[in-house]
Amino acid sequence: MINDLLSANKAWAEAKKADQSDYFEKLSQGQSPEYLWIGCADSRIPAESLLGLQPGELFVHRNVANQAQVNDPNSMSVVQYAVTALKVKHIIVCGHVGCGGVKGALTQSVDGYLDAWLAPVVKIAQDNKADLDALATEDEKTTLLAKLNVKHQIDELAKHPIIKAAWEVGQDLALHGWLFDMPTGELVDLDLSVKG
Ligand code: CO
Repeated sequence: MINDLLSANKAWAEAKKADQSDYFEKLSQGQSPEYLWIGCADSRIPAESLLGLQPGELFVHRNVANQAQVNDPNSMSVVQYAVTALKVKHIIVCGHVGCGGVKGALTQSVDGYLDAWLAPVVKIAQDNKADLDALATEDEKTTLLAKLNVKHQIDELAKHPIIKAAWEVGQDLALHGWLFDMPTGELVDLDLSVKG
């Protein structure tokens, strides 16, 4: 029931205030998160929860198949604000095992807006066809493509003018590529970290 959500919110706000009476006054004064999370829109990957972070600690952008497309004003405005205004120290691009968007790109079984949005992931699959074909199962292929997709986002961000400008002035900023292994609930570092 939709009203249950509003009741749950009231209970949450009351609990926060019971714990710290000026909690929301403090929260309202501003944000200075150290991290930007670029993750999948998948409902099973609640970024703050799985990182143990509280409101104010994580700047978040989520879309289908965790893409930071350089020609997408949505994701790029998030990156711009995070880097130039908030001065986050880390940008985490996180893919995940069992990603429906990645699987849709792999099997080219999507249409409409998803077809357009996932075109760059289809391209990554085409560029890595031999490695993907060498794997036996669709699950294995999907996981490899999810990793390659994360790597692509990191590569694109690393050469983006916003990131390069930050690095040129010595801003403390690192990029990281992770994979959420849903069957274990654990994050895997894909060793893609790069710092200016
Ligand atoms: Co996904």
